[in-house]
Amino acid sequence: MLTNVKDILAKAKEGGYAVGAFNTINLETTQAIIEAAKDLSSPVIVQVTEKTFEYAGGRGIYHLIANIAEFYAKDIPVGIHLDHGKSFEVVERAMDIGFTSVMYDGSRKEYADNVMMTKKIVEIAHARGITVQAELGNVPYIGEMQMDTVDWNQYMTDPEQAKAFVEETGIDTLAVAIGNAHGFFRERSEPDYERLSKIQSLVSLPLVLHGASDWDNERVAEVIKRGISCFNVDTAIRLAFIGGMREMLQSVDETDLRKVLGTAREYTKEAVKKKIEAFGSAGKA
Ligand code: G3H
Ligand code: 13P
Ligand code: ZN
Repeated sequence: MLTNVKDILAKAKEGGYAVGAFNTINLETTQAIIEAAKDLSSPVIVQVTEKTFEYAGGRGIYHLIANIAEFYAKDIPVGIHLDHGKSFEVVERAMDIGFTSVMYDGSRKEYADNVMMTKKIVEIAHARGITVQAELGNVPYIGEMQMDTVDWNQYMTDPEQAKAFVEETGIDTLAVAIGNAHGFFRERSEPDYERLSKIQSLVSLPLVLHGASDWDNERVAEVIKRGISCFNVDTAIRLAFIGGMREMLQSVDETDLRKVLGTAREYTKEAVKKKIEAFGSAGKA
């Protein structure tokens, strides 16, 4: 059942578990995410980026997710979210299409500009009952950093600034940077747990962790204890999808695309299930 992300994450925060926000680009990934959540009776968030708007069409992908959630997943809460909206225009487009949750990512902007644009989006979104996530600090992307010389201080969320940012903008959820990084094997050797605890002590909203889809279950459990209510997962399930396709394409001379994509879907579903188990949201639908 379609459910607002704000409600899904409020429950997670209260219950001391986290919910996965999984990126989709197509039918098979969407089915894998929702079917995995359904099998485990878990709430789930399905999200898309601007690049996927370009690839699949904004309306097309939104209604694909919404239809699957409404017709095949009546018993579990499913939130639909715009991930990393980097401009006002993209966020506005998502709201017009029907997204009930959006991220405005001004993390690369000067603090004052990030506040200004985030605040403007919050005002418009809240008037329409739409949830807003923003990012402070900066979760870097694979390929951006020289791993041996990286200065993590330039990426980290400042706890006091996070408090001011939340108060000034009125956002609903906050993406934090504590040594996490998009893509595999690019994060800081150890997350800055103390920083996360400090942020949690200063703000009361649900915190979101991007770029941690390669973290082991111990790290995941530790940051949930310290205030993370939502994990964004993209790389882990993309790799699973590609693994499934690769196996089919190597093992047989297969020309039925449904068999190739069906196997990729199964692999993806298993990867999603593992994440849901680690986040502790199984049985919480
Ligand atoms: O941070 C989010 C995604 O991992 C980036 O995905 O290639 O669809 O922008 P994208
Ligand atoms: P990963 O690259 O760790 O999967 O992070 C995904 C993400 O943060 C999407 O917003
Ligand atoms: Zn991200």
